Amino acid sequence: MERSELEEGARNILLTNLRRGVADWNGKEYSFVCPSLTGYPFQWFWDSCFHAIALLHLDQDQAKAEMTTLMSGALSDGFIPHIIFWEMEKQPDFLSRNIVGMTSPNYSSTMQPPIIAYTVERIYQATGDEDFKNAALPVLTGFYRWLRTVRDPDDDGLIAVIQPEEAGTDCSPKYDEALGLEELTNRGFITALRKVYDAYEPMRGDDHRILAADIFHFEDVLVNSIYVMGLRSLARLLGDSPEADEFSREADKTRDALLAKCWDEEAGAFFDLSGVAEAPVKVVTISSLMPLIIDDLPRPIVERLVNDWVTAPDHFWTPYPLPSVPASDPKFMPGNPRGFIWRGPSWINTNWFLSHALRRHGYPELADTIVTRSQECIEKSGFREYYHPYTAEGLGARDFGWSTLILDM
Ligand code: GLC
Repeated sequence: MERSELEEGARNILLTNLRRGVADWNGKEYSFVCPSLTGYPFQWFWDSCFHAIALLHLDQDQAKAEMTTLMSGALSDGFIPHIIFWEMEKQPDFLSRNIVGMTSPNYSSTMQPPIIAYTVERIYQATGDEDFKNAALPVLTGFYRWLRTVRDPDDDGLIAVIQPEEAGTDCSPKYDEALGLEELTNRGFITALRKVYDAYEPMRGDDHRILAADIFHFEDVLVNSIYVMGLRSLARLLGDSPEADEFSREADKTRDALLAKCWDEEAGAFFDLSGVAEAPVKVVTISSLMPLIIDDLPRPIVERLVNDWVTAPDHFWTPYPLPSVPASDPKFMPGNPRGFIWRGPSWINTNWFLSHALRRHGYPELADTIVTRSQECIEKSGFREYYHPYTAEGLGARDFGWSTLILDM
């Protein structure tokens, strides 16, 4: 597929999914791209960051507007919600199909993988806009400090999520045991999640209490790898300053904790830690590879991840890599999971992360193959939410925003 065709396709989606207006509940102007007009008509945190990165290739002002809108949702304690319901009239339909943790009717009380500082850094690098950077910095420092002070109760450098959706990989099989999942369907997932939500009900909004209650407490490898990436971007954005040192030290601490606590030498993969007791969850998923996005990951670990997992045809090296769960896993579901997502299909956002990571670690051919195969998925099936890792069949939502990340691969 020619670059111009990809750009045209991406532009169509980003423009069609563009929402602009003034919210009647807070009087603020918004301008952002929703993930999908039919399935996901609001602003999602990490989707928004991905949209802004794709937009850098098409419309830099809109990339800034996307982030400015997201940052305008930051609360006074620093937290930024994973969904902002800008257009409230669309909420009843959405909530009839999904459950969302909320302390306010207008946004969720859920976080998502903290890639925002990286996105702001990319926009700043592309535009040199000092005003944009200066307006962003207090929001970013507030958010990353919120993560550290609220989400790392044992102060080991690893932040914890309290629900699977906070890691962005909602129904991944790595959560099955902690959720006590009985029925392996999306309905079973929602039922299990509802129990967690019910237990949280009296504590909603008090994350310290929720974490101490130890109901669902995951030090998640994907989240923490992205946390390191974000902290390093933030430190660079802050320049030569004590604040920059603060975030740069935190990044090293998180990297060291991933290596010390999550790396499993026998399996050759990284595992999440479940509960206050930090039991390793020995289920390999795409998340187990995500520390590759850390530039200074020790070389022997990079090689193990690449040789044992990424390029192994019975694990992640399917015809259209990289599946969200290795093909060798008995729970691997490559086809249409009817909303039971992150259990087999390949996603463009994880391919974006990992193709860049592999290139930086000296694997340009592997990275090129992932990019080519991702393009083939889009060529064959359009910009879909995820793809069948053997056939490139498009699955999930149509005209899906973050698949336009292909422009940045
Ligand atoms: C699903 C995905 C999540 C994403 C959201 C909106 O819940 O698992 O990562 O942010 O959809 O696209």
